[in-house]
Amino acid sequence: MKFLTAGESHGPQLTAIIEGIPSGFTISIDKINRILKKRQGGYGRGRRMEIESDQVTILSGVRFGKTTGAPVTLAIENKDYSHWKKIMSIYSEDENNERRVSKPRPGHADLNGGLKYNLKDLRDVLERSSARETAIRVAVGALARQLLEPFQIHFLSHVINIGGITADSYLELELTSLEEMKNQIEESEVRCISPHKSAEMIKVIDRAKTNGDTVGGIVEVVVTGIPVGLGSHVHWDRKLDGRLGQAILSIQAFKGVEIGIGFDAANRFGSEVHDEIVYSKERGFYRVTNRAGGIEGGMSTGEPIVVRGIMKPIPTLYKPLYSVDIDTKEPFQASIERSDACAVPAASIVAENVIAFEIANHFFEKFSGDSYQEIKGQFEIFQSQVKEY
Ligand SMILES: Cc1cc2nc3c(=O)[nH]c(=O)nc-3n(C[C@H](O)[C@H](O)[C@H](O)COP(=O)(O)O)c2cc1C
Repeated sequence: MKFLTAGESHGPQLTAIIEGIPSGFTISIDKINRILKKRQGGYGRGRRMEIESDQVTILSGVRFGKTTGAPVTLAIENKDYSHWKKIMSIYSEDENNERRVSKPRPGHADLNGGLKYNLKDLRDVLERSSARETAIRVAVGALARQLLEPFQIHFLSHVINIGGITADSYLELELTSLEEMKNQIEESEVRCISPHKSAEMIKVIDRAKTNGDTVGGIVEVVVTGIPVGLGSHVHWDRKLDGRLGQAILSIQAFKGVEIGIGFDAANRFGSEVHDEIVYSKERGFYRVTNRAGGIEGGMSTGEPIVVRGIMKPIPTLYKPLYSVDIDTKEPFQASIERSDACAVPAASIVAENVIAFEIANHFFEKFSGDSYQEIKGQFEIFQSQVKEY
């Protein structure tokens, strides 16, 4: 599967065209919209999210609720566009162009994009580089993960760090079920499983806000029900960990990625890092521990996949940083467009859904076919092959 997205932050809509979705899958628009709503939430978000209430429209590739195998087009309308029609006009230039941007914001794409594309109105850059684009990527992932539901593959995400307040990783938690974990996460305004840590994280966000500052953090995505053998060791661009890493680092403001115990592997001896292999007749081959986070040699091991992403603090600060005007070449202190103080909880939903697309992509690469029936058949053949191995 592959997809393209298009659309500006204050343009009429965001669009995605997904190619390669097999036929015969039932799609629920409600499920996509529920996930889109979660992306808009979380403590610390700014006013833009009060204006938007994202709803997806499917414009092609689905008929009578089922995929047909044709490209699927998704669209999300930008409600805010009604206030920006003149400024974002496709046809005629707004003579005053009052919202022209000549002051590049530190930590954003503004200056690099202006220099690279030779654009003298930096709005042309910021409209596309904005994290508003993540809404449509979440919709794509929310659709892709539905295709994996019949195979019992499930996704969740939670926040394990905001501004230095840390909570346990999935690898350290002792939970009876994923459902239990999901319920606890949904109850927290910052999507953190610990109520105590949630309260501390909220305090850090409040402190940042009071100081005109922002905070970042760490999100963790967990995927369960994964069969062994997604991805491949045979070529660099087929390695599952490499592809998941790219997906995470493609999210606006994400600067690091970890799989399993991640960077902590550097602090440990090998015997404390690698997972011993065991076998039982009922379960087949499995690992007692999962420090590898479900991936070895570029392939899924069958254990839950655990991926973390590190988000930098939002670059737009009410306590502005210095920059240089592109017209006058004079220094100035960056002015504020409305902005979030912390978007880590929202970003955990983005991370969960970009990972969902990548997993679905690898799943349909391994169990390829044009229809659900064909894929189901392939999946079952492979499952018995593994059982009899
Ligand atoms: C969900 C989400 C919301 C964001 N909201 C804002 C925001 O309100 N203001 C802002 O300056 N940056 C925001 N960002 C971050 C910027 O989009 C990002 O830092 C910027 O595009 C520069 O890209 P880079 O940080 O990846 O280099 C947000 C990011 C995400 C993932």
